[in-house]
Amino acid sequence: MWYKIGKDIIVRNENAAKPETQSSAYLKKLISRLEPIHSSFDFGCGKLRYERAIAKTTGELALVDSEVQLSRGQMIRGRSTTIRDYVGKSNHVHALTVGQFASHDRRYDRGFCINVLSVIPSASVRLGIVQLMRAKLKPNGTCLFVTLYRNSDFTRMQNLPNCQPYGNGFLMDSLRGHSFYGLIPPDDLAGLVKRAGFSVESIVLDEGSAYLWARTPDGRPGPINFEIRETAENFQIRSQPSVSNRSSAR
Ligand SMILES: C[S@@+](CC[C@H](N)C(=O)[O-])C[C@H]1O[C@@H](n2cnc3c(N)ncnc32)[C@H](O)[C@@H]1O
Repeated sequence: MWYKIGKDIIVRNENAAKPETQSSAYLKKLISRLEPIHSSFDFGCGKLRYERAIAKTTGELALVDSEVQLSRGQMIRGRSTTIRDYVGKSNHVHALTVGQFASHDRRYDRGFCINVLSVIPSASVRLGIVQLMRAKLKPNGTCLFVTLYRNSDFTRMQNLPNCQPYGNGFLMDSLRGHSFYGLIPPDDLAGLVKRAGFSVESIVLDEGSAYLWARTPDGRPGPINFEIRETAENFQIRSQPSVSNRSSAR
């Protein structure tokens, strides 16, 4: 996804995604122990690092990412392809942009959001996508959020001359353009998912990453309509008040 900062900085983060060969053994084990369910989504699926592990636990799987991530040519498991073509022939795995994911009525039993929130430089986008994930889960649905909260490389990198502090992290200017590196402390992650209407079931910390299981409540629907703008320069998402909230606010 691309994020515009100020007048002329554009952060692109599709290249932040790592291949399956660089997956976390801890996370793969955690996923393999999950009870099988009907439907799941992997929000910010990247280069399909955990797709095979997640697909074994679910009947249907929606892979959600930016248009650029889904359509660009890249190597996936040793094959030069695009994510759309890679999953194209499958009956139970689908690739969706955030806009497509938001606009169809399907709701899921379980969601995953792995190493996505910490690469997003905008606090309002972080809140918007967590609200969207909550809206796309069934009542009592669960979602695993994984975010980086500590990284010793970041401490060294942020003092380099081409880095400047920004939000909960820093921006780096390199030959490939600008990148954003952020850290989300576990308490901030818990605060964010609660603000989006989830309850927090558990948090485990392992090797600088926080693993947080969140659950959607039984009743009380949150925002269900979202205004989403994905352009070549920027991504924005905003929840829309429901019609009944709007009229009661008058
Ligand atoms: C660090 S990668 C993680 C990919 C994958 N979850 C993994 O762990 O390998 C971050 C991914 O989030 C995607 N991303 C960034 N902002 C997003 C947004 N607003 N909505 C959906 N995906 C987003 C990027 O395109 C990228 O594929």
